Amino acid sequence: MTQKKHDTPSEEQEQNKQGTKRILNGFSRKRLSLIPILQKVQGKLGYLPREAMAEIAEYLNIPAIDVYGVVTFYNQFRLNPPGKHSIKVCLGTACHMKGGYITLDAWKRRLGINPRETTADREFDLDTVACVGCCTMAPVTVVDDKPEGGAEPTRVDGILLAFEQEREAEVKEKSENS
Ligand code: FES
Repeated sequence: MTQKKHDTPSEEQEQNKQGTKRILNGFSRKRLSLIPILQKVQGKLGYLPREAMAEIAEYLNIPAIDVYGVVTFYNQFRLNPPGKHSIKVCLGTACHMKGGYITLDAWKRRLGINPRETTADREFDLDTVACVGCCTMAPVTVVDDKPEGGAEPTRVDGILLAFEQEREAEVKEKSENS
């Protein structure tokens, strides 16, 4: 689970294209529509793949690089598909003081990705957040919307181990039921 690149199957690319086209039909071709379109497409696909951005650029008759520029400018937009589990490392002041960047480095190393990326197996995506309101638990990592306090590197290992055990249990259960 340590690669950054996504060898997206062409079937998925085709689905993304068609899904984007359906959404585009509901919008005017004015450039003003760009952000609402991006929001809607991301809402549908979970992210903004290259093929979706190309469709949007063509529809609005603007260069693809302009679409890409807007997507990368705003934090709300994702270039990578969401993972099954979301990992958000708090870098607010309290967490920063308690080693938030060390925690972030631990997640980066364990998952083999940088913030705003997703592991190649799409199990995890990694991001950073500002204060999530649990400063007394610093350093905090929000795992699937649940704040985990004291998230130092050993805790990172513990969280990943729990996911690993959960996955193994699921595989075992499936094989027993088949
Ligand atoms: S700074 Fe991290 S929870 Fe407040």
